[in-house]
Amino acid sequence: MGTNIVCFALRFKENWFHAGPIPRYRRPMIRLFVAIRPPAPIRSQLLDLMGGVRGARWQSDDQLHLTLRFIGEVDRHTAEDVHAALESVRHPRFALSLSGVGAFDRRGQPTALWAGVSPHDPLKALHKKVDQAIARAGLEPERRAYSPHITLARMSRGGGPVQPLIESAGNLSSPPFEVGDFRLYESSLGPEGAVYNVVARYPLG
Ligand code: 2AM
Repeated sequence: MGTNIVCFALRFKENWFHAGPIPRYRRPMIRLFVAIRPPAPIRSQLLDLMGGVRGARWQSDDQLHLTLRFIGEVDRHTAEDVHAALESVRHPRFALSLSGVGAFDRRGQPTALWAGVSPHDPLKALHKKVDQAIARAGLEPERRAYSPHITLARMSRGGGPVQPLIESAGNLSSPPFEVGDFRLYESSLGPEGAVYNVVARYPLG
């Protein structure tokens, strides 16, 4: 495990300073979030659900994740403090399953389609540790309630209806999959939408 952390830390630094079209050291702020990456069979189950909803901008395989904590824009030094704090998080591995499909809406308009997961307890416990670690790095604790989900699509204004998909996929389930690590992601805007790059991984167990 020690070696992994060193490798990831090196990868973190390497990505940080040398990857991407614009050298990272010239970017004053970076947008970060902490997430769990579902394994390939689960992602393909999710990809199979996608389609048939007007105005849905479906997530690509690369984009699929379960957010533990959105961080937002931070400077490079804060990001390094966040990374160091996340390395100190200790939590056992746990299993999750897919569980249902739903939509977020604003004023009656669907804004996103998501897949649920269960159980929530281990996720909430890990979310809390991650949130506390991030607070130790000097950031405000998260105010909004944690609601675990995997975003499947973002909805264009006037899109939908989403009800047929929610009804047909509402009983979505999967075999349990093990969560063996969580990851720090950098989000940047590419021509095709958000691009999420793994900056570091933190093993569980
Ligand atoms: P969402 O999928 O429900 O939009 C990267 O943007 C990830 O961080 C997304 O999974 C997004 O959740 C999540 N996130 C949580 N809070 C956010 C916020 N205030 N702004 C943008 N993304 C947020």
